[in-house]
Amino acid sequence: MTAARRANPTDDVASVIANATVDGAELPDHETNGYYIIIATAGHDTTSSSTSGGLLALLEHPEELERLRQDVDGLMPTAVDEMIRWVTPVRQFMRTATEDYVLADQKIAAGESVVLWYPSANRDESVFSNPDQFQVDRSDAKQLAFGFGGHVCLGQHLARMEISALFKELLKRVDHIELAGEPQYMQSTFVGGLKSLPIRYKMK
Ligand code: HEM
Repeated sequence: MTAARRANPTDDVASVIANATVDGAELPDHETNGYYIIIATAGHDTTSSSTSGGLLALLEHPEELERLRQDVDGLMPTAVDEMIRWVTPVRQFMRTATEDYVLADQKIAAGESVVLWYPSANRDESVFSNPDQFQVDRSDAKQLAFGFGGHVCLGQHLARMEISALFKELLKRVDHIELAGEPQYMQSTFVGGLKSLPIRYKMK
């Protein structure tokens, strides 16, 4: 693909990666391959699940959809993070403790595996007020769907930008949206979300 995009660049993202230069030199194959894989895996199911799950949340909370419509630019930043918190598409990652530690009375010994449940963190009632409430203006705490620390999601700003751009355009063009069937979920213990979301809509 890299060779093909270098010979005949198109307007797709693969052409941008294949033809990128650093200090005047094209990227070696293992780096271009790394970028394709990141976009196809880390950057795909995560954003599509957050977008579709965010739309479902708006359809199930019409008063929140209406609030967002009234102030699209002002509320979009908090609405996007609330959609990502609500969906939390990455279910878990594992860490290995490097030293003994006590967390909330639980002893963790060096060398033990610790599973981080992101959906649980994002519904923590000691951190979020009314965590099971979907609120487009939520600003009481920072959601943790992108992880935390040295390996925090590298694509978080791109993800927020994609979701924000989609909803800004959608709300501008669509007059009415409603559910048109039962949403179906994918079965996953890692990255998960909606498999299909049947909707009916009317353009402006
Ligand atoms: C809503 C969308 C997304 C969510 C919820 C999400 C979530 C996560 C989580 C939980 C991690 C692990 C963090 C940790 O280990 O502490 C991660 C890492 C990562 N994500 Fe995302 N992600 C999203 C979108 C993206 C996009 C769009 C890209 C790139 C196009 C991306 C690229 C990466 C990469 C490269 C890492 C590894 C970072 C590292 O280990 O240093 N992600 N993401």
